[in-house]
Amino acid sequence: MKTLVAYMTQTGNTKKIAEAIYDEIAGEKDIKDIKDLTNFEGYDLVFVGFPVLQFNVPENVSKFVKENVAGKGIAFFMTHGVPEGFEAIKSWTGSLKDIAAKGNLLGTFECQGEIAQHVLDMLEKSDDPEMKAFAALGPAAKGQPDESHLQKAKEFAKEIQAKVQ
Ligand SMILES: Cc1cc2nc3c(=O)[nH]c(=O)nc-3n(C[C@H](O)[C@H](O)[C@H](O)COP(=O)(O)O)c2cc1C
Repeated sequence: MKTLVAYMTQTGNTKKIAEAIYDEIAGEKDIKDIKDLTNFEGYDLVFVGFPVLQFNVPENVSKFVKENVAGKGIAFFMTHGVPEGFEAIKSWTGSLKDIAAKGNLLGTFECQGEIAQHVLDMLEKSDDPEMKAFAALGPAAKGQPDESHLQKAKEFAKEIQAKVQ
């Protein structure tokens, strides 16, 4: 059993979760930025992490997974500016089942992540009340993911591994 933790990150939040998951994995393992990967060859189980961007799974992540997931166990982890359980996350990431369709989707982990200041500034300036409402979520996201979220990510890693052993 060889496991890969692959992640995309712009400001480091998703990388923190990736490292927590990686620490918890038993057996042979690697951790890589998705942009340094060409495929998932040699791995039985892949954890794939990304930030939610513009109400969606980033295009490079969905494309890469679709092209390489066949026959692999896969678990997703994501960070987003809104609080965990925020209703719209389901529609923003509803495509994950399709993205993983050729593999064996084992689970998904989500966690709030601090929102970059330039994004908050842009949201605040927007005329759209929905965007302004997102900006108001900024302070609550500050400092996330914190230690308790990293612990939850470790628990997730354990649960996923237990499913494939
Ligand atoms: C361009 C951009 C778009 C974003 N869009 C969303 C979004 O649609 N929903 C959301 O909850 N967070 C959104 N965020 C916030 C990020 O998902 C969040 O800060 C995440 O933790 C960043 O992860 P990273 O540090 O690994 O890049 C956006 C951030 C950026 C920079």
